[in-house]
Amino acid sequence: MSDQVKPLLVALKAEEDGYQIYGRMAKRSENENGKKMFEHLVKEEARHIRTIKDRLKKLGALPETKDIAEKVYSVSELDFPDKELSDLEVIARAITEEKDARAFYLRSAEQTQSPEEKQMYQLLANDEASHAEILEKEAARLKTS
Ligand SMILES: [Fe+2]
Ligand SMILES: [Fe+2]
Repeated sequence: MSDQVKPLLVALKAEEDGYQIYGRMAKRSENENGKKMFEHLVKEEARHIRTIKDRLKKLGALPETKDIAEKVYSVSELDFPDKELSDLEVIARAITEEKDARAFYLRSAEQTQSPEEKQMYQLLANDEASHAEILEKEAARLKTS
C-alpha cells in the first residue's frame, strides 16, 4: 500500500465509523433538535465518504478498510452506547471525535505531496471544525434548557 493511499484508507475508516455512530445517535436521541443535528452529521460524513472514495478511485485504489488498524479517534464506538448516557455526554464524546478528525486531516494535509490532496484534507479539516461547533452549540443549548 502506497504512502499516499494509506492515509486515505485510515480517513475512510474513521468516516465510516463516524457515519455509523451518528446514525445510532440520531436514533437514540430523544429530543427533536438533537435528532436533527445527528441526522445532518450523518449526511455530512456520508459526503466525506464519497469525497475520499472518489480520490481513491482516481489513484486506482480500492476503498477497502477492513485491514486498517490505525485509529483517528481517541474515543471508540463503545463509548457511544445506545442508552445510559445523556445527550450531553454523547455530544461531549462526539466533540472529541470531531477534534481528533480535524487534527488528523491537518496532519495529512501537511504530509501529502499532492496539492490536490492537500486541498481536500484542508476542506475536510474545516468541515470537522464546523461539526465540532455545531455539537458545541447543541451542548450549550441543552445546558440552558
Ligand atoms: Fe468527516
Ligand atoms: Fe465530522
